[in-house]
Amino acid sequence: MTASSNATHLRKTLKDGSFSLVDASLNETYHNWAGAFAEAMGHYATPALALLEKAGHSLECLRLWDVCFGLGYNSFAFIQAFLASPLLGKVQTLEIQAVEIDGSLAPLWQEVLAQAHFSPLMQAFQVSQVQTAYGYLLSFQAKDASFALPDVHIHIYIADALAVLPQWLETQASPVDLIFHDAFSPSKVPHLWSSDVFKVYASVLNPTHGGILTYSLARSVKTAVESAGLVWEKLPPLGWKKGAMLVQRPNAGSTAAHL
Ligand SMILES: C[S@@+](CC[C@H](N)C(=O)[O-])C[C@H]1O[C@@H](n2cnc3c(N)ncnc32)[C@H](O)[C@@H]1O
Repeated sequence: MTASSNATHLRKTLKDGSFSLVDASLNETYHNWAGAFAEAMGHYATPALALLEKAGHSLECLRLWDVCFGLGYNSFAFIQAFLASPLLGKVQTLEIQAVEIDGSLAPLWQEVLAQAHFSPLMQAFQVSQVQTAYGYLLSFQAKDASFALPDVHIHIYIADALAVLPQWLETQASPVDLIFHDAFSPSKVPHLWSSDVFKVYASVLNPTHGGILTYSLARSVKTAVESAGLVWEKLPPLGWKKGAMLVQRPNAGSTAAHL
């Protein structure tokens, strides 16, 4: 890994060649040393798509919440993996609501997308980024209209997740298919891993196929998940992590071993 610094963050290049940041105040890396791209694909995009493919039905609109959006790797990896999945052509709109407290990361999203890791995504889409009243809107427009690409929008709220999640819960008209929860570690920011957070997720999650993906397998997180009335399964290890977690409503989906 190599590192360099800017005003607020220490910058690192990880094992897969993708770049990440270190939060100086928490002394915590944004991603697993295996790589920001590798983690986004391995712990978020791939199991999320496997879950939806297994559910096997077409969705007019696929709804995803990306909590602690950071550099955007998880959503970007999901969109890219989606393009190569059997779901392509079965989903008309991919609607992503994201929340990130640090607005200074906004100039880095296009830089993340410019990496070779995301060339399939950038070959398919032109990405525009505009500032909005709540934060930013990233819109993905198909470069070649003859492909059955979905409309893709990422609405990024620059806010504290704890303030925004209850508002999203109140205004969410339809169940959410996927939630990516990628806060800093539960030992450093336990308030972002509370049962109240998972209760919000439990209230909006699609009861039959919805899934929450997160990297932590900490005992405190399992307890918070269980007290929110949800069930969890371990996903395979990656880099320094012993595994990740798939969380669902009871009786939804099936075991991670079969993903
Ligand atoms: C582990 S990093 C997320 C990495 C990110 N998913 C990515 O793909 O780059 C944690 C992120 O949570 C953000 N964060 C910290 N506290 C937050 C809060 N209360 N609400 C929303 N975001 C928060 C940090 O600024 C940081 O970007």
